[in-house]
Amino acid sequence: MALTPNELKKMAAEEAVKRVQSGMVVGLGTGSTAAYAVSAIGDRMKTEGLKIIGVPTSARTFEQAQSLGIPLATLEAQPKLDLAIDGADEIELSSLNLIKGAGGALLREKLVEVSADRLIIVADKSKKVNKLGEKFALPVEIVRFGWKSTFSRVEALGCQPVLRLSDGGEPFITDEQHYIIDCQFGPMDDPVAIANALKATAGVVEHGLFIDMTAEAIVATDSGIEVLSK
Ligand code: A5P
Repeated sequence: MALTPNELKKMAAEEAVKRVQSGMVVGLGTGSTAAYAVSAIGDRMKTEGLKIIGVPTSARTFEQAQSLGIPLATLEAQPKLDLAIDGADEIELSSLNLIKGAGGALLREKLVEVSADRLIIVADKSKKVNKLGEKFALPVEIVRFGWKSTFSRVEALGCQPVLRLSDGGEPFITDEQHYIIDCQFGPMDDPVAIANALKATAGVVEHGLFIDMTAEAIVATDSGIEVLSK
């Protein structure tokens, strides 16, 4: 029987949270799948007395985790994490490289997740791709000052960028007060080259390519859980 996307996300998230142990400092991701992981951590605290410190990757996740009574710290206070659990927009099957940032939290996510010993990605089956960029545009966080010239420099790298807008039609503002441009590169043959080119572009703060960061991807399908690791 086909499960709904939300049932699949919950399954993957709950499987990942089995890997959390008392005493760990855990990066708490952002998005609809990561939110199920945060809930599952809250449940394990209540039912089993699990004790962790969470480092949230967005204001949204901070609020959810706080409402569940999860003890929280900033990345400044806990610069070394044991584990981070987060969702992704695309997972490249051959490499476990990712596109992230559809939810707008890519900068804090990257900062928290590069500081973790292990990054576990949780996803439903729709996130698996053969090449990054097959389905999603790549989110790129840019500074607001002179944003149009940054936009042109990114466009010149060979993509079609679009300034992300919020529901009210105003530019979407990230937790770090920047803009996001969603860049349509199409399927990427060399995501590392694109990542390096973006990093070298003035005005770009961070991009949503997460290269060589995933330790394990837990993907829920109608027939059960797939655990992918390199
Ligand atoms: C947030 O900025 C993103 O990186 C999310 O982790 C990603 O978009 C996955 O979100 P969903 O789990 O809601 O699909």
